[in-house]
Amino acid sequence: MVVRHQGPSLVIHTPAKLNLFLEVLGKRPDGYHSLETVMVSVGLYDSLVFREIESNQTRLNCHRCESHSAFRNSPLLTLPIGPDNLVVRAADVLRKHTSSEQGVQIDLLKRIPMQAGMGGGSSDAAATLVGLNRLWDLGLKRETLHELAAQLGSDVNFFIESPTAAICRGRGEIIEPLRLTRQMHMVVACPASGLSTPDVFRQWSSTAHASRSVEEYAARLQRSAWSSENGIHNALEGPARELNEDVSQTLDALRRVTHGPVGMSGSGTACFALCRSAHEARSAASRLRAEGGRRVDAISSRT
Ligand code: C5P
Repeated sequence: MVVRHQGPSLVIHTPAKLNLFLEVLGKRPDGYHSLETVMVSVGLYDSLVFREIESNQTRLNCHRCESHSAFRNSPLLTLPIGPDNLVVRAADVLRKHTSSEQGVQIDLLKRIPMQAGMGGGSSDAAATLVGLNRLWDLGLKRETLHELAAQLGSDVNFFIESPTAAICRGRGEIIEPLRLTRQMHMVVACPASGLSTPDVFRQWSSTAHASRSVEEYAARLQRSAWSSENGIHNALEGPARELNEDVSQTLDALRRVTHGPVGMSGSGTACFALCRSAHEARSAASRLRAEGGRRVDAISSRT
């Protein structure tokens, strides 16, 4: 997360994530699932501009990046700005916790695909907690921000610190930062249709599974950031493919234009391939973009 002051405003650029490894260990009594996942933060950012206003309200404006013509008629571009938006909920949670009566105008520029498993909404929520803590001069410690983040969603804690990479456990909110030895390069493809996270988890519950060790995966990843042996592992990929055939088609399309490991991020529908270099990722992206119908980005892990 990059935070800077611009006159009376505070500007935050907050990244997306990809899951290189995601294992579901089982269903918990509270209805969530226990996870072990390796997340890597990548150089694709939403931007938020915070400005204090006189009233005690949260006013949110969302703008989307218009460069993705494949998404022009897609439901993935519907931007919810009401009370259900995680940014508005993050401001409400902070106000309730601190009894603050301050108001804010937030302008959000979306570049991270929505409902894609890339953590866009969670990243925006984390940026809101960090941003308003500064703008409103609340003086909350990191631990408190983490407690509030966990109330908002399972992925929000990762983005509070935005480590280069991390093992996340529990329902995703327990973070152990990982150091990557090399920058990673990927081509990411999002079909125009999305998937509901609860539906994908529900579908998982009914499928057979043998679990893989996150420690072994993370150790191999730290030895070599690109490894076809390590691959991309996601226990939610099978359930997502059962629910949405665009996922299988996108994985096949990525296999046609790359030679490395291919997989899905989070609960989908974003799919990605690991490439040996930024150049290879860019040229695979332009071949895939030429097919049309999907949003395609060449991106790298953050250093
Ligand atoms: O935590 P978050 O709000 O992102 O989760 C959305 C939904 O995804 C949950 O309501 C739950 O159905 C499912 N989920 C889960 N186990 C997790 C994370 C999410 O079952 N660890």
